[in-house]
Amino acid sequence: MKVSSIAAAWASSTAILSAAVQAHPGMNATVLEALKEADSNKSGELLGDLKWLYPGQLSAVGRLIRSILVDDGFDAQSNEFYGHVPPLHSAACALDTCCVWWYIAEEMTQLFRASDGQCTDAARAAVRLGFHDAAGWSKFTGDFGGADGSIVLAPEEILRPANRGLEEIVQQYKFWYDRWSHFCVGMADLIQMGANVATVVCPLGPRIRSFVGRRDSFVAAPDGLLPSPFDPAEKLIALFRAKTIQPRGLAALLGAHSTSRQFFVNPARAGAPQDSTPGIWDVLYYRQTLAARPPPEIFRFPSDIVLSEHPRLFPAFKTFAGPNGQAPWDFAYAREYVRLSLLGVFNINNLTDCTLVLPAKTSKP
Ligand code: HEM
Repeated sequence: MKVSSIAAAWASSTAILSAAVQAHPGMNATVLEALKEADSNKSGELLGDLKWLYPGQLSAVGRLIRSILVDDGFDAQSNEFYGHVPPLHSAACALDTCCVWWYIAEEMTQLFRASDGQCTDAARAAVRLGFHDAAGWSKFTGDFGGADGSIVLAPEEILRPANRGLEEIVQQYKFWYDRWSHFCVGMADLIQMGANVATVVCPLGPRIRSFVGRRDSFVAAPDGLLPSPFDPAEKLIALFRAKTIQPRGLAALLGAHSTSRQFFVNPARAGAPQDSTPGIWDVLYYRQTLAARPPPEIFRFPSDIVLSEHPRLFPAFKTFAGPNGQAPWDFAYAREYVRLSLLGVFNINNLTDCTLVLPAKTSKP
């Protein structure tokens, strides 16, 4: 399926709602509010400095990210590769912001790809770490928290119950930081680049546009901003809305549980995956979460079940679970992950696009 038709199909489901929110005389305020809320099913809000910069002030990267955020059909996946990578310690490499990141991505790939071509426990943990660092932000916390590396840099964060299971990958990032920080590489970027490398290393995973230049913070993110698997759907939807992530975007992001395993929700079933193929970035998670009789080897989070059944997320779950669901899911996930990876970032206009360092997308082994 072509990218334009994927974007069009994805967008058409909200076009009807957009038309519905035009007010007419006699429409009462409650109905109007409800319709407006229905229209806000899709994420399109600007973030950080892009909120106040005029179009004329935007850099090329600022314009690109703006197109992704406002959901004008721009694809957040890319197939740009390095032609020739200069040697690591050369002057040419020092002059090219992305050069060192190519070497980092190579090293990450070694850890994230298993010998059978599937993605590893470390890859799963890296995707979750990217989410947990960035999600420590909401519209009400302003320039505090978010994708700033604090999940590793502020020792208090890893002690929080919501971050249980991330201890080992946090140690890995400390190691990478010690190894690469003298090349002007920051923790926030390491974490978000790591999540994107891990995603594309998983067979079928999208190759998501990856930016560097975020500011690090040693201050712990505000507590209480991460979701619980026992929260009701409305609470989770509100939590993500406060991060500018609307229900359709949340449905796309939840698909990361396609490659996940749980250890602490039900310790008696530690290691149980959320779909039958946790080493592959496929749409089986959507099918098996919706299934009336899921296979016994999988463990479904209560939150995934209530969200998949919620009228605001169910249509997206159905689309992704469908026979042609992979391409629309990749498209939607990439777009929403770019948003997630920029929460709490207030120098978006000055970031550098280093997507070209990512390894190639792979098919099923
Ligand atoms: C309602 C939202 C969410 C809830 C309640 C939730 C909850 C959880 C829980 C409870 C676990 C298992 C932890 C354990 O017991 O070891 C988990 C694992 C995971 N989550 Fe989520 N999650 C949510 C959204 C997300 C999002 C948005 C992403 C990524 C974009 C994500 C990525 C992952 C990954 C990759 C794992 C597997 C980690 C591993 O296997 O080591 N989750 N999540």
